[in-house]
Amino acid sequence: MSAEAGTRGRVVLVGGGPGADDLITVRGLDRLLSADVVITDRLAPVGLLGRLSPDVEVIDAARLPGRATLTYDQITGLMIERARAGKTVVRLKGGDPFVFAHGAQEVESCTAAGIPVEVVPGVTSATAAPVLAGVPLTSTDGAAGFTVVSGHLHPDDPQADSTGQRSRAAGPPWSSSWACGSCRPSSAGSSPTACPRTRRRHALLARASASSVLCTPGSPNCRPLSSRQG
Ligand SMILES: C[S@@+](CC[C@H](N)C(=O)[O-])C[C@H]1O[C@@H](n2cnc3c(N)ncnc32)[C@H](O)[C@@H]1O
Repeated sequence: MSAEAGTRGRVVLVGGGPGADDLITVRGLDRLLSADVVITDRLAPVGLLGRLSPDVEVIDAARLPGRATLTYDQITGLMIERARAGKTVVRLKGGDPFVFAHGAQEVESCTAAGIPVEVVPGVTSATAAPVLAGVPLTSTDGAAGFTVVSGHLHPDDPQADSTGQRSRAAGPPWSSSWACGSCRPSSAGSSPTACPRTRRRHALLARASASSVLCTPGSPNCRPLSSRQG
């Protein structure tokens, strides 16, 4: 789709899903194929870029730990600049744009610049990875919820250590609502869980390289419900 004189550009944040090209949504693919400019992330389904017409501008904004190609200010600057030129800009992200993805900041920047923004949800790896590993996140036999946490925190967060990682000293980030149906967070210093179901889940999750887990693979912070006090 080419920009026409006088048309107003816009930005579409598209959640590309957890990696496989066919796990994007129908709406996400529709928006991608309507783009004049596509700005991609490292975990986006880049195999889909081969379906774009040759006149679509593709900008690789992949960021790697310690090797950022473009800063977030540069990325949002590009989005705004291309949209102001009348282009439809698709920002193609991995997973969901609002799950650990700076999507909200990008929306704020574009909106502040007067650029219309649409956000297309994506299948987040936080739920897709466990599913693809055969791990139900909830079940009627006791797993009544799940928690998604990041190991990286804002430097000002009191639970962050000097490197910005979640401090181990701050303890587990979940509360009694965490998801393992057979165990619960234990007090500090307890031994690794003996719960077979939790051990199996830990192993599956470790194999799946999930970004977000029911409980940390190998974590000592759980124990069978049968050993509850009181
Ligand atoms: C910056 S977060 C982006 C999360 C994404 N917005 C989502 O909803 O899935 C990146 C982390 O998500 C996980 N992740 C996301 N997609 C993945 C994939 N296809 N394969 C493995 N890990 C993935 C990894 O732990 C990675 O370090």
